[in-house]
Amino acid sequence: MSETIIQPLTELTPAYRALVESASAATKTAYAPYSRFHVGATLLFADGSSHSGANFENVSYGLSLCAETVAMASASAAGRLKEIVAIAIAAEGELAAAITGEFIAPCGRCRQVLAEAVNICGHDIEVLMLSRDGLRVRSTTARALLPLAFGL
Ligand code: THU
Repeated sequence: MSETIIQPLTELTPAYRALVESASAATKTAYAPYSRFHVGATLLFADGSSHSGANFENVSYGLSLCAETVAMASASAAGRLKEIVAIAIAAEGELAAAITGEFIAPCGRCRQVLAEAVNICGHDIEVLMLSRDGLRVRSTTARALLPLAFGL
């Protein structure tokens, strides 16, 4: 795959479309009373199964956990980090209008967490980012998102 491609959601493979739609559905499980920005992330495993997470905020703000990190920590707890092949990210909420960039991209800490998963997997991880209007998907990889990563 090239470093980044943008496609209509409807043109993704059925498996990747389902993955992105699962991330959208996961936004409903966000605990985000402070930002009111609901983020969902769904991991795709090598056997075709998936696992979702959503952001989990805290009144002390800085302790809040992103959807991607929640999903990966949960996969780690299930002993499935090595099986991750892709992650899809979606968001909805008031803050979406204030965010620059069309696509919901992982924050810096989540990129480092993804880099750890890549290290454990021994292969790159596809990253699918849904646009704020929900119509298009930007696809790249964890390695492309964090060049010169510490530890890789
Ligand atoms: N957030 C995520 O869940 N993932 C990201 O990659 C960026 C930001 C969450 C953190 C916080 O709960 C809310 O979005 C606003 O920043």
